[in-house]
Amino acid sequence: MSMLGVLRAPRQVVFGVGQRRALGSLTAALGSRALVCTDARFGATEEFAELVGLLEGAGVRVTVFAEVLADVPVHQVIECAALAADAEPDVVVGMGGGSCLDLAKAVAVLLTHGGVPSDYYGECRVPGPVMPVVALPTTAGTGSEVTPVAVLTDPERVSKVGISSPHLIPHTAVCDPELTVGCPPALTASAGADALSHGIEAFTAIRRPVSAELATERVFVGKNTLTDTYALMAVRQIAGALVRAWTDPTDMAAREAMMLGATAGGFALGTAGTAVAHAIQYPVGALTHTPHGVGVGVLLPYVMEFNRPARVPELAAVALAMGASPDAAEEDLADEAIDRVAALLAAVGIPATLADLGLPADRLRWTAEQALGAARLVANNPRPVDADSLERIVRAAHSGDRASLRQASGPSAPDLTTKEAAR
Ligand SMILES: NC(=O)c1ccc[n+]([C@@H]2O[C@H](COP(=O)([O-])OP(=O)(O)OC[C@H]3O[C@@H](n4cnc5c(N)ncnc54)[C@H](O)[C@@H]3O)[C@@H](O)[C@H]2O)c1
Ligand SMILES: [Fe+2]
Repeated sequence: MSMLGVLRAPRQVVFGVGQRRALGSLTAALGSRALVCTDARFGATEEFAELVGLLEGAGVRVTVFAEVLADVPVHQVIECAALAADAEPDVVVGMGGGSCLDLAKAVAVLLTHGGVPSDYYGECRVPGPVMPVVALPTTAGTGSEVTPVAVLTDPERVSKVGISSPHLIPHTAVCDPELTVGCPPALTASAGADALSHGIEAFTAIRRPVSAELATERVFVGKNTLTDTYALMAVRQIAGALVRAWTDPTDMAAREAMMLGATAGGFALGTAGTAVAHAIQYPVGALTHTPHGVGVGVLLPYVMEFNRPARVPELAAVALAMGASPDAAEEDLADEAIDRVAALLAAVGIPATLADLGLPADRLRWTAEQALGAARLVANNPRPVDADSLERIVRAAHSGDRASLRQASGPSAPDLTTKEAAR
């Protein structure tokens, strides 16, 4: 099989303890009127005041929107853009978890192109470049600081919606692990589970037939050589550091590794895309009101088990990145990858089943049908799925019966043919 490599990324990524102090000069190089988007929690901290001071010290006029709600209700994007319009910002700075970064990215679209977020839902609907965004994550999870997506909650839709376009990739990402020290263990676990799932879903995603149109027609092109490097980097870093960061929030070496893993996971997901664990999490999150990272974390071992027949060498590579012995046979390593992921997530308190998350037993078919509606994610899965196979995964994840997926999965399934992939 010939190699394909596609990678889209910010113009610059500045990573390291203390690097947030470069924010003033990095932003002043892009504009002189900054809209700063954060949430009430971070907006009340001394760290936030220090960052605003750095911007002002660099000659940047600052307008603050410090009301971002988790999972970004779509009305907030409209409100923030309207409030900011008078200040005529020429650069948007997002500071906080994935929610704050996603709001900043979506607001930059509205400030540049007008309209409302629903004008841009889906892939490749942003008509051109947007005003520069500087992103400072305070969680090690979503990778949003480097991805082309903004995820929003729209009360008109059951599942979350996304604006996906290469134009949404922040211009500059400033990744300072010190900003994650305040994350309590549960947030460290859910964000870390999200980042791990980005690495594994991107690494095991569909391989699309190579064509000259692939990189221009799609935001998410599937598994490829360049994102593979970042995907495995994410797995390696997170496997080595998640339990330490969860146990001791002040362990800076662990915080550094987690943030490196999360940003690497963002590179992987931002070009390769994620798959069925993410598709199923959307309706699960809508019904149970549990965090995104917890939902994908619960689902990940089950989805890996379902996809195993199509991805034995990849799962073996995941096991090796997690520290397994290279002497084991490939089939055994594939099993070990799933066991290691399940054990790692259990060690940081991610529940084992969807029942534990409160998903009602009479909504399993509905969950599968809703997941099927996340067509982009479903199409990115290495094994084709329909409502019945999704229901099988949901049922297994609800009852904790991973073995049932092993029995049901049958022989190796090939990658999609050109015709199937064109769906
Ligand atoms: N754009 C993308 O590529 C992408 C990828 C995956 C997920 N997402 C989205 O990102 C959102 C989740 O982001 P998240 O997991 O980073 O959480 P979040 O931004 O939703 O924040 C969750 C809570 O954690 C708090 N928090 C954040 N940083 C903290 C810190 N350092 N110390 C203490 N508390 C802190 C926040 O104030 C908030 O109360 C979801 O909406 C998800 O769908 C986006
Ligand atoms: Fe995610």
